[in-house]
Amino acid sequence: MTKTAGMVVVLLGSPGVGKGTQGVRLSRALDWAHVSTGDLLRAALRKGTPLGLEARGYMDAGDLVPDDVIIGLVQEHLAGLGPERGVIFDGFPRTVAQAEALDETLAGQQRGVDRVALLDADDSVLIKRISGRRSSASGRVYNVYFDPPRREGFCDDTGEPLIHRADDQPDTVRTRLAVYHELTAPLVGYYDARGLLVRVHAEGGIGQVQHALRGALGV
Ligand code: AP5
Repeated sequence: MTKTAGMVVVLLGSPGVGKGTQGVRLSRALDWAHVSTGDLLRAALRKGTPLGLEARGYMDAGDLVPDDVIIGLVQEHLAGLGPERGVIFDGFPRTVAQAEALDETLAGQQRGVDRVALLDADDSVLIKRISGRRSSASGRVYNVYFDPPRREGFCDDTGEPLIHRADDQPDTVRTRLAVYHELTAPLVGYYDARGLLVRVHAEGGIGQVQHALRGALGV
């Protein structure tokens, strides 16, 4: 087993590959913080904050929100956690500039990224997963094919109605996949060159992928 106090893990992978699903499970199992920039942005959007209003157009189009906005958001969030807390990043970093900013921020806390797990699945699997995704306003994620709620259309935990994310429409998904390949896939080389990358085959069931992920991370 790897020493886990203060460990920092990044989950990398295409839209819909399961970063959020796996990140939530792992953070609960290890009592680490789960930091999803997508969730932070969606929460800001729901509250109608200036950040949410700025991010909306980019998110609805499937484009990335500008680096300076995201980096500021993550730095603020990380400062509230303290350096001894294990952290799982999901959906961040997404560009080389964000990865460099994360390295710098963590160095200020006398730590760094310990492992980066690349979750890998064929595009046909991602598209099926995204088309079946339903989410609650508070962020719980289900899937009508693979992980349905007990009562169709409603969250098991809160009873809220489940929605289909605005950016899960087919045209926007195509843009998100293209943006991933252009701007985020280069991070595979960035972290591989630093000896931090582990690859996890993510086409199996949710429990199976979690088992493979924990094995690859050694946690
Ligand atoms: P974000 O929310 O991060 O979206 P994403 O990266 O496109 O990832 P997803 O949330 O679509 O997928 P996921 O991998 O988490 O899959 P999930 O677990 O839900 O970002 C949204 C937008 O915000 C971006 O487009 C951008 O505009 C902006 N943004 C966010 N971060 C940013 C950043 N750092 N920089 C700039 N802009 C940023 O699973 C998908 C579905 O499959 C679910 O229904 C789930 O139940 C199901 N499922 C999961 N695993 C399995 C399995 N093993 N078997 C069967 N079903 C499964």
